[in-house]
Amino acid sequence: MTYLERARAKARALIEKGSATLLAVESSCDETAVAVVKDGRQVLANEISSQVDIHALYGGVVPEIASRMHVEALSPLYERALAASGLGARDIDAVAVTFGPGLVGALLTGVSFAKALAYGLDVPLVAVNHIEGHVSANFIADPSLEPPFVCLVASGGHSHIVNVTRYGCYELLGRTVDDAAGEAFDKVARVLEIPYPGGPLLDRLAANGDPNALKLPKAHTPGPYDFSFSGLKTAFINATHNMEQKGVEMRPEDLAASFQHAVVDALLTKTMQAALDNHVKALALAGGVSANSGLRAAFEAACQKAGIRLFMPRLDLCGDNAAMIGSAAYYRLLRGETGDMRLNAKPALRLV
Ligand code: KG4
Ligand code: ZN
Repeated sequence: MTYLERARAKARALIEKGSATLLAVESSCDETAVAVVKDGRQVLANEISSQVDIHALYGGVVPEIASRMHVEALSPLYERALAASGLGARDIDAVAVTFGPGLVGALLTGVSFAKALAYGLDVPLVAVNHIEGHVSANFIADPSLEPPFVCLVASGGHSHIVNVTRYGCYELLGRTVDDAAGEAFDKVARVLEIPYPGGPLLDRLAANGDPNALKLPKAHTPGPYDFSFSGLKTAFINATHNMEQKGVEMRPEDLAASFQHAVVDALLTKTMQAALDNHVKALALAGGVSANSGLRAAFEAACQKAGIRLFMPRLDLCGDNAAMIGSAAYYRLLRGETGDMRLNAKPALRLV
């Protein structure tokens, strides 16, 4: 029997049992992460090594540095995750890995590591879409969450509204036509001289600011659930330049709060409309931007008013991590989706 035949037979046995412990690997951008997840929802270990400090020196992620750092971090993280889980390598039923979207070199380090591990342990390999991972962080957050639900995915590279009709089935309702929400946060943070990645620090600054200090325009978009953040970013930059030229000063806290309010307002309005129009009882937030305190508070208030249950990942599971990859992979495994040694990185992989 070949590796793939054995892996498929093992996957069938796991599906019959309805239980599996997965070791998951994530290396799509600037965090290296390895996790051990049981049955898609129970996190036994979740180890992360962030490269943010190094990339902050350059004001953004340097792909070549990211790849090299992933290579160095993967083996020690694997050892740490296994030790933290209290399991041995032979207790791992399958290996999961992010194969896209992301930086090609960074993805390849994780994919190569996971392939070698799956082959060495002679267990199934499960390829996971990074965005699907972010959505799945909500399954860890609350064991009672089941599709269907509408999910806002807002990260550094993506801003989508999807209808999760069943496990692994996504209907695209809306998306950004230009910048992602996190990208807009990072670009505006740079103007405010906040170091990379700007989103979390801008959030903290905004907490002490007046969200109505600077009026910003609302974007016109092609579809009712689409976003556009590029115009908002330009309007913000133009407004700050004009103030500078006229010698008008505005507190950075007020500028941050005003920008954050405009982004949150767009994300909230479109997503709530999509949830109401699709008659769902549950709404979830996902991706790095779902850690934003203004966003979380606004959705809590709106969902309570609309009688919709809101699900949000814990703060440490909003950004990139491998636990979410292990969760997504479990449901892929249950559908019999196992990869083989030809698995390659797909930097431009789409969710739908
Ligand atoms: O999901 P993620 O960790 O990586 C990608 O898949 O892109 O998202 C990172 C993005 C960055 O743009 C970062 O600035 C933003 O999420 N972010 C935030 C916050 N925390 C992270 N944006 C606003 N407020 C936050 N608290
Ligand atoms: Zn991400």
